[in-house]
Amino acid sequence: MDFTTAQKLVAEHGTPVLFVSANRLRESYRSLAAALPGVELFYAVKANACEELLVILRDEGASFDVCTCGEIDIARRCGIAPERCLHTHPIKTERDIRYALDYGIDLFVVDNEAELNKFTPLRDRAQVLVRMSIQNPHCLVNLSHKFGVSPEKAFALIEKAHEMGLRVKGISFHAGSQNQSPMKYIEALDYCRDICWKAASQGFPLEVIDIGGGFPINYLEPVPSPAQFCRPVNEYLERYFAGYRIIAEPGRILCGPSVTLATRIIGKSLRDGVWWYYLDEGIYGSFSGKIYDHCDYPMAVARKGKRHTSVLAGPTCDSFDVLYENVPLPLMEIGDILLFGAMGAYTNASATTFNGYEKAKIVFVD
Ligand SMILES: Cc1ncc(COP(=O)(O)O)c(C=O)c1O
Repeated sequence: MDFTTAQKLVAEHGTPVLFVSANRLRESYRSLAAALPGVELFYAVKANACEELLVILRDEGASFDVCTCGEIDIARRCGIAPERCLHTHPIKTERDIRYALDYGIDLFVVDNEAELNKFTPLRDRAQVLVRMSIQNPHCLVNLSHKFGVSPEKAFALIEKAHEMGLRVKGISFHAGSQNQSPMKYIEALDYCRDICWKAASQGFPLEVIDIGGGFPINYLEPVPSPAQFCRPVNEYLERYFAGYRIIAEPGRILCGPSVTLATRIIGKSLRDGVWWYYLDEGIYGSFSGKIYDHCDYPMAVARKGKRHTSVLAGPTCDSFDVLYENVPLPLMEIGDILLFGAMGAYTNASATTFNGYEKAKIVFVD
């Protein structure tokens, strides 16, 4: 978003504010759908649960990855049919399972025996995917640290589930968020092939492969386009998984690029020769992604001129609430607007109202 447009919108809506470009959101969905033909896209609601955003994706044809009763409520309020939802949390209470079943969701993810036991009384109503771990320490967020059975043990768990009379539909994995390499998906799919072959030869063929999320977006460094990134994954799926139902759970790549944060300088102070600027948005707000998502966002300022090493801090009383140290900025004034791009994923989702600050307003623009 350019500064002239942002200034006009800010005059109307105030700051801090997250502008969501509905067109950009649609474009993200369409380009991923085109990059992964034949793959059902289940938007990971946790990335950004804003209901207007979900409705736009619903109208584009998306399905939804939900993890909790709260996310199911959101899906229900957005008019999303249960057949278009998949429950992906590997650890659930009995209430969580029944809540999802009562809504009509019947496909769940498991990664351990204790979880299988929870499904035995419900074997006629529920089907499961077994989540396999795939270690990826080099991505932004390794999603196999906490969940997933190792590839070597995945088949045994599937076999166990089958022996217990559960309906095991297939395998899921998450190759790591903001994944740098499509080869991680191929590594995981190699394991899936082996597991599928074993299951078929034991007489219980699997039908579903869920390749998770992880597709990267441009933050400070450019990444390949969805089409480029997905090409090898796509080719592999076509070659070895024809006839399977293929699912993906994209979060970041759908909601991330469409959102711009506008925040305002509310105070400035020269401290030990360094300019400190205090913004009306910080670590406890939309910038929570800097902590939880280990993420950094592209910044733009309108002022020109000689740059000075500066500090940008959030508004709260906590000294931890410092966003950027050593950032080169022109001399800024109170009231100046700063724009941060690609702020749609894991930002407002984890924002708090610490210190009495309200969460940034969300405004949809075209
Ligand atoms: C199970 C699961 N699926 C999908 C996602 C979405 O991942 P991404 O935003 O990297 O596409 C996540 C993210 O935490 C996840 O835990």
